[in-house]
Amino acid sequence: MIRIAYTSDLHVDYSNENRELVARLKESAVAAKPDVLILGGDIAASPTDFGWALGSFVEVKCRKLVVAGNHDIWIESKSDILNGKDSGAKYRQILPKVAAENGFEFLFEKAVIIEGIGFAGCMGWFDYSFRNPKFDDTTTLEQYRVGKWQSPSSGKNFLWNDMQYVWWLKDLSAKMSGFTRNDLCLSDIEISTLMAKSLSQQLDQLAGESVRQIVVVTHFVPNRGLLEYRDSIPHDYFNAYHGSVEIERVIRSNSKISHVFFGHSHVAKDVTIDGIRYVSRPVGYLGAGRTVTDASAKLAIVEI
Ligand SMILES: [Fe+2]
Ligand SMILES: [Fe+2]
Repeated sequence: MIRIAYTSDLHVDYSNENRELVARLKESAVAAKPDVLILGGDIAASPTDFGWALGSFVEVKCRKLVVAGNHDIWIESKSDILNGKDSGAKYRQILPKVAAENGFEFLFEKAVIIEGIGFAGCMGWFDYSFRNPKFDDTTTLEQYRVGKWQSPSSGKNFLWNDMQYVWWLKDLSAKMSGFTRNDLCLSDIEISTLMAKSLSQQLDQLAGESVRQIVVVTHFVPNRGLLEYRDSIPHDYFNAYHGSVEIERVIRSNSKISHVFFGHSHVAKDVTIDGIRYVSRPVGYLGAGRTVTDASAKLAIVEI
């Protein structure tokens, strides 16, 4: 048996409450005596804060795995893009290095085997395939790509922030003349495909090994059935930014996958769909009256 402790969406750069929770989460993780501690992404936009959060778990003596979330690859200033620190460089080089320096294995290119169980993972992404098709007559894919909405009820404007803060350049030597994100960057569909391929490759690596079962970790929501559809907008517009059927298909096509840990939606779940158990236990945004009194409630303990 292997004991996994899991949490996600620490958002340590969001509020003092988020930041202060980390020490208490660490205490809970130490007390839980896990064999594996997994963080499911959305830790902080700055690599320094990301590293601080991971390093806070140094007293938890076990294997530690992490995937990045969308907030972790945000660009803090446009000058970073020009200085080789685009979202792709953060994802492929900067964050894996910071993770390793703080005792964590960054899941993306290489699967991990711990006590006969395979672990594969990646951030995942969204390709609007989790949108509510009921609105397809009035909402085009182009509108989802731009990610700006006006609420029909309140008139309030919404923006999906990744459209502003994620700059994953196709070509690092690209010149920023014109500075158009859509010309220079991978599309959401391309990022989703990259993630699905990475997950497939890790599952292929594990197919050649004698593993009893496989645990997958993704930041984004790994199955459409985990989302709530209200048939109302703007709520259902945002489901478009929660996952990708391409990644869902990769997960569903591997019969050894028994558990999937995920984050992003800030709604805790523990649901079994077609024989796979999906677990999320996010911290989410604290402050302004939202506090966590019992940190252990933000740490899922799953024995496999
Ligand atoms: Fe989050
Ligand atoms: Fe997220």
